Amino acid sequence: METTTSSSKKFDTVTNDFLPLQGTDYVEFYVGNAKQAAHFYKTAFGFQSLAYAGPETGMKDKVSYVIRQHKLTFVLTTALRKNNPIADHVSKHGDGVKVLALKVDDATRAWEETTKRGGKSYLEPTILSDTDGEVVLSGIHTYGETVHLFVERKNYKGLFMPGFKKWESNYNPTDTGLLYVDHCVGNVDWNQMNPWVKFYEEVMGFKNILTFDDNDISTEYSALMSKVMSNGNGYVKFPINEPAEGKKKSQVEEYLDFYNGEGVQHVAIATNDIVKTVTELQKRGIEFLNIPASYYANVLDRVGEIDEDLAPLQELGILIDRDEEGYLLQIFSKPLEDRPTLFFEIIQRKGAKSFGKGNFKALFEALEREQDARGNL
Ligand code: FE2
Repeated sequence: METTTSSSKKFDTVTNDFLPLQGTDYVEFYVGNAKQAAHFYKTAFGFQSLAYAGPETGMKDKVSYVIRQHKLTFVLTTALRKNNPIADHVSKHGDGVKVLALKVDDATRAWEETTKRGGKSYLEPTILSDTDGEVVLSGIHTYGETVHLFVERKNYKGLFMPGFKKWESNYNPTDTGLLYVDHCVGNVDWNQMNPWVKFYEEVMGFKNILTFDDNDISTEYSALMSKVMSNGNGYVKFPINEPAEGKKKSQVEEYLDFYNGEGVQHVAIATNDIVKTVTELQKRGIEFLNIPASYYANVLDRVGEIDEDLAPLQELGILIDRDEEGYLLQIFSKPLEDRPTLFFEIIQRKGAKSFGKGNFKALFEALEREQDARGNL
């Protein structure tokens, strides 16, 4: 299947990638109530309990629950007292993503390579050990108060990492087919997209693989611009959005307003069977953006033949798009907290490596209807 171009690209990656990444290790959320958040993600999304850290394990000021579904690991962390960075983060941003943790073979080298290229250190290489071995962690700051941790766990055979114990629970809802993080999108301030693109290029060795300008992403009312950054092997993709001028307030502005700054807008999660996954999520109370019937009237003229029946896709509100390599199915949840900030995308790729450009207009109009209902358009 692979063409000469992509094999030579791979060779290039192997020889020149100063920050080889094996994928997303976990996503950590700072939340107001981690116990309830963990219950919500287990119940609604089908995660399983994995590990726990808190006062019982020697962590005095915070509690973390680790939940997992296939290769998707979330950490939900809350502060036990005021006047600490977690409590301050939640007070300022509401519940949101603090850490996008990336799996590496050598966390010390990852920190050295990125900080010498201008990355601002968040955590110097630190060894955590227990009877199961050791994990090396290091980290750098990215947009807003978000950070990237580099996680080296090749010498660790424990469940998650030192400091955590197994979270035994007799409440184990069935999974919903969520597999791994496909991409994570950041919303940044006016005129900040290009500086952050430069950061991912220079500090982390990523490449800009796609660009959308305000002509691609605009409706009657608002607009945004986006550039997709990818690491060498394509396992880690970070699109970066900034608002653009429109008649009314852009959805990115609404986010920046309520999050009080830059941060993660959405986490896109892969599934192998989007109809099954979304049917299950809706049954468990997850709400998705409503797509008008008119979208489905001519969608197949645009995307051509697909394997799925259109009826269930329309019933669930799943969007379809095609690029040169295949097609994709995607759907967007409503915000997962009261502030109109973080949401999830569920995506099934059938060859397509793009991000659903053909759906942007329908999607943003749906977002604006919600924004308008909140009085923020
Ligand atoms: Fe996305």
